[in-house]
Amino acid sequence: MIIFAHRGASAFAPENTKASFKKALDLGAKHFEFDVQITSDNKYVVFHDYTLERTSNGKGKLSDKTLLELKKLDIGSWYSEEFSGEQIMTLKELIEFFPSDSFLNIELKRDKNDKRFFGESFLEIIRPIKDRLLISSFDWELLTYLNNLEPNISFGILVDKYCTNFISDIKDLPFIPYFINPNFKIIDENFINTFKEYNIIVYTVNDLEKALYLKSLGVFGIFSNYPNIL
Ligand code: G3P
Ligand code: MG
Repeated sequence: MIIFAHRGASAFAPENTKASFKKALDLGAKHFEFDVQITSDNKYVVFHDYTLERTSNGKGKLSDKTLLELKKLDIGSWYSEEFSGEQIMTLKELIEFFPSDSFLNIELKRDKNDKRFFGESFLEIIRPIKDRLLISSFDWELLTYLNNLEPNISFGILVDKYCTNFISDIKDLPFIPYFINPNFKIIDENFINTFKEYNIIVYTVNDLEKALYLKSLGVFGIFSNYPNIL
């Protein structure tokens, strides 16, 4: 079972920062998950929340800020003074940071009110490493759009507990996702059997007992803030 370092080794360092990915590498991780959003000037940056308050010293919505404005923020101090000065990274900077044998799960986040798609400029950045990545999102419309532009990429459908009828919805998608990434809360043997022809990666598993249970069910992988959980 593969373990994806969720937002890096985010149990040990502020999520989605270089420090967090460095720590994951130190712990031996080769698989990484991180979140990507679009700035007001159409740049791609690594950040989880739509708003800045929780994990930075900024205020307001990320999608209202330019890259230059975001680069001025401190995204480490909220976690601990030890990490003060951590800066938001662009997607390109983070891809260049990883060793060439890393496998990346790039999760695309798009605010409901934001009508912009991750388009050609996004694909240009990720195409050179398309054999060692997976693009996932809760936004299936966005994945469908990207799959039309670039069908030779692995896509992962994120499923949360609030997705009703997801079994028929997944089967009705206009493309076949290579991965299904469900919330741990909806996992049981029935789910595993229904989707046995897919690769299943479960989020977010920070508990050893749960990790061992999922391993026994034969899931492909888990996302964990503790990349050394097993
Ligand atoms: O990609 C798995 C997981 O990261 C999805 O939820 O909110 O942690 O981005 P979230
Ligand atoms: Mg994520």
